[in-house]
Amino acid sequence: MKTYLSKRASGAKRSAIRELLKLTEKPDVISFAGGLPAPETFPHDEFAEIAADELHGHYENVLQYGLTEGSLTLRRALADWLRPHGLDLSVDQMLITTASQQALDLVAKAFIDPGDVIFVEAPTYLAALQTFSLFQADKIPIPLEDDGMDLNALEEKISEARAAGKTLKAIYVIPDFQNPSGITMSLEKRKRLLEIAGREDLLIFEDDPYGQLRFAGKSLPSIRSLDDSGRVILMITFSKVLAAGLRLGVLIADNPFMDVLVRVKQATDLCTSKLTQHIAARYINEYGMEEHLKAIREVYHVKRDAMVSALEEYMPKDEGISWTNPEGGLFLWVRLPEVIDTEEMFPRALENKVAYVIGNAFYVDGRGRNEMRLSFSLGTPERIREGIRRLAKVISEELVAKRAQTVSS
Ligand SMILES: Cc1ncc(COP(=O)(O)O)c(C=O)c1O
Repeated sequence: MKTYLSKRASGAKRSAIRELLKLTEKPDVISFAGGLPAPETFPHDEFAEIAADELHGHYENVLQYGLTEGSLTLRRALADWLRPHGLDLSVDQMLITTASQQALDLVAKAFIDPGDVIFVEAPTYLAALQTFSLFQADKIPIPLEDDGMDLNALEEKISEARAAGKTLKAIYVIPDFQNPSGITMSLEKRKRLLEIAGREDLLIFEDDPYGQLRFAGKSLPSIRSLDDSGRVILMITFSKVLAAGLRLGVLIADNPFMDVLVRVKQATDLCTSKLTQHIAARYINEYGMEEHLKAIREVYHVKRDAMVSALEEYMPKDEGISWTNPEGGLFLWVRLPEVIDTEEMFPRALENKVAYVIGNAFYVDGRGRNEMRLSFSLGTPERIREGIRRLAKVISEELVAKRAQTVSS
């Protein structure tokens, strides 16, 4: 079998998370594991009306192939929506994608040769790591600080990689409410990252699925909106702001890159579903994104508050335990004392009917064994509180057991 596979595919690993997630899909388990958006935020009734109208009245158009670049109506609607957010875009700077996972695939296909270096935050989004691995990138992890990537460490790693004769291509960042940590990159760091990328002639892949889900604090400009060099490729998705099942996103880039990315997409899937593009475009034009966003930000705000207040109430009081308090998005990140291994503890959590994602899965170099990601997007505030109560009990018991073992050994 192995002889038939491409080198690329034979190196592809199954996602550890997806395997663990299967174990959490029981109704009595309170799962903080999946990164799924809250279903109550999906505008399903509005979609049903629009879809019925499109399918009855315009089926010859919406069930047809479309432009690879994406529907003009959707790109115009996006331009109007994003303009007040500091992005003044023409339709030619937008490529509609089958959501951001495809955008990541397209940039990897367009820019990464085997062995090329891409600097990534540590921890970072697991499926981006999977995509970069498929294209045999050399992923160099850069630690994440409370205000984003450690840029001194980035500069050091750039020098080391150059000295080793490697080809450096890009820096991959999720500046707003990062997956998995919930951390936001400061404005100072956004500007300095651009300076470093300019000086070192690197691309920036800016992944922004959560930026519109800010429910506290002050909005920061995207890195792309601070750039005038064309080296930032920005990926935005509808998955968390409208519905993940639409499978719609937009990749924002300038020429000459855009031309290449369009050709790469053509060879990948010809075009993204015209039906879902029309549903999204009409939703934006007829209902407006701002009202909808206001409502869903509040949904996540209430859930974040429920999780953070439950952590404060139930977690063991121990100086080795901390968590992030994100100002938006879906996730927070918990650090536990080093005696705890969250993978080893996972079966105990499941016995107690609660689940999380092990921290280690989000690193390329085996770190994060005492860390975990919690998603506060699913379930009611009451269920979130109950889940944290169960989790805190598991952690308390694990701490006692591990510390007793350390003393006796
Ligand atoms: C950081 C990040 N990038 C990209 C994606 C891909 O999402 P989608 O393909 O649904 O747009 C996700 C999904 O959770 C994500 O967290």
